[in-house]
Parts: sequence; C-alpha cells; structure tokens
Amino acid sequence: MPTPVIEFSLLDRLRSAHHWVVFTGAGVSAESGIPTFRDKQTGLWERFAAHELATPEAFHRDPALVWGWYEWRRALVLRAQPNPAHVAIAQLATLVPQLTLITQNVDDLHERAGSVNVLHLHGELMRARCERCRQHFPYPAEMPAIPEGGARIEPPVCTQCGARIRPGVVWFGETLPEREWLTARTAANQCDALLCIGTSSVVQPAASLTRLAIAHGAITVQINPNVTDIDDEVTCSLRGRAGEIVPELIEQLRAMI
Ligand code: OAD
Repeated sequence: MPTPVIEFSLLDRLRSAHHWVVFTGAGVSAESGIPTFRDKQTGLWERFAAHELATPEAFHRDPALVWGWYEWRRALVLRAQPNPAHVAIAQLATLVPQLTLITQNVDDLHERAGSVNVLHLHGELMRARCERCRQHFPYPAEMPAIPEGGARIEPPVCTQCGARIRPGVVWFGETLPEREWLTARTAANQCDALLCIGTSSVVQPAASLTRLAIAHGAITVQINPNVTDIDDEVTCSLRGRAGEIVPELIEQLRAMI
C-alpha cells in the first residue's frame, strides 16, 4: 500500500493545535506482532469466542481457561517491542504544548516507547488484581512457556484475602475505569486535534471519543489501512499502516513547528 500524501493544508491546521489527543487501538500494536481483534483471519475475535474468554461470567465458569488465555497474551506482549508508531507518538508529546494519550490497548508498548500518563480505557494486562479486595498481584519475573492460544492455568490466589486473582483488563459488560474515562472525555471535549490510530471505532463507549472531538470542532485525523465507520466524519483519513504514517506525519510537523 503506497504511503498517502499528507496535504500541506492539514499540516498547517495541525501545527496551530494546542491540545492534542492521540487515541489508539489494537492496530497501533499490530506491527509489533500483537494481534488485533477484528482483522480478518488474524483478529482475536475471529479466532476465539469473546463470550468464553472476556466476560466476568466466563471467568467464573472456567477461571483456568480464561487465566491461561490472558497469560498467553501477556507472553506475546512481553516478547514484543514498541514499533515506530509508538515511538513517534512519544516524540509528538515533546513537540506540542499539551498531549493526552488515550489507548484501548492493554499492552504497555506506549510506555515502553517513552509515553507517560497513558490512559488505559480497557485496563492493563500487566496489572492483574484480586477480584475481591483489588490488591495488585505481582507477577513472577519468569514467564512460563505458553502454547499458541493459551493453556489451562489456574489463577493464583490473593495473599491478602484468599480470593482469585483476575486479569487486569476490562471485560464485556464491565464499566470503564472511572478516572481514566472522565479524563479521556474531558480531553476529547476540549482538544484542538485528535489522531485516531488503529481502531475499528466500533466498541463503545471508547469509540465515542472521536465523535466528541468532531462535535466540538477539533481537527480529527484517522490513520488506518482499512475503511471504518467514522471515515466520513473525520477531517481526514490517512489510509495505511500506523508504523509508516505516524512517523511521517510527526516528521513533517516537526519540520514546520
Ligand atoms: P479492532 O481489532 O476492532 O480494530 C483494529 C483496527 O486496526 C482495524 O480497523 C484495522 O484496520 C486497524 N489496523 C490493522 N493493522 C493496522 C496497522 N498496521 N496500522 C494501523 N491500523 C491498523 O481493535 P480495537 O478497535 O482496538 O476491548 O478494538 C477495540 C476493543 O475491542 C479492544 O480494546 C478490545 C476489543 O474487544 C476489550 O478487550 C475490552
């Protein structure tokens, strides 16, 4: 796929933006080797049943299946490295007056690329907690070898109250973490520019953030190799891979600022 031309008029509007929001989804980590959810054939929800793995009911029904599947995903993330898109987003934060980074991703690749204060709307794989008293669970340093797709592994128990430890992610049917969601909404309501990178924009309420920014007149730029539901609503869609387009966009902006 050829890299799209980034119009001068777009760069010119972006360079006057004070408050930026960068809103990312699974596509930003795809080039790091972490599967997305809905891409044909490779997406996690194309290969695995969400209702068997990503709901509170699924965890209560079969904790070993669910814990083992998330352990497989945690192992994938531990092996992965940030890609040029993660790195460019961290650099953008040093170039503009204010930047709020909001992600739906449960990996820590933004942080490992140097981003700080990342708002994880859907939780964090590395932050498992007790399902009763919410005590944080310190993962052992050694990651066991886990086969593709996971294995049955009994979840550990809380040293404080004896209840089960659960993955630190938000499951279907659960609410988003309150502080992160409030901060994200406020930022989307106030920003001058929003980059929507690597998300299908179908999962609510997270996907509503881009529309909030559009509604109050922010410049909105989508970066995605595929068509999404918000193509016709954003200011501009740059069609292609995040690892190529995001560094190019930031480089061109840097030359203008
Ligand atoms: P999806 O899998 O729904 O969408 C990923 C998007 O990334 C698609 O639109 C792809 O076209 C795009 N994409 C693929 N490769 C890309 C690349 N190299 N560069 C840029 N974009 C690329 O993932 P999300 O939108 O993140 O929730 O999914 C949202 C939520 O649904 C997830 O956080 C997860 C899932 O259920 C929970 O687990 C709660």
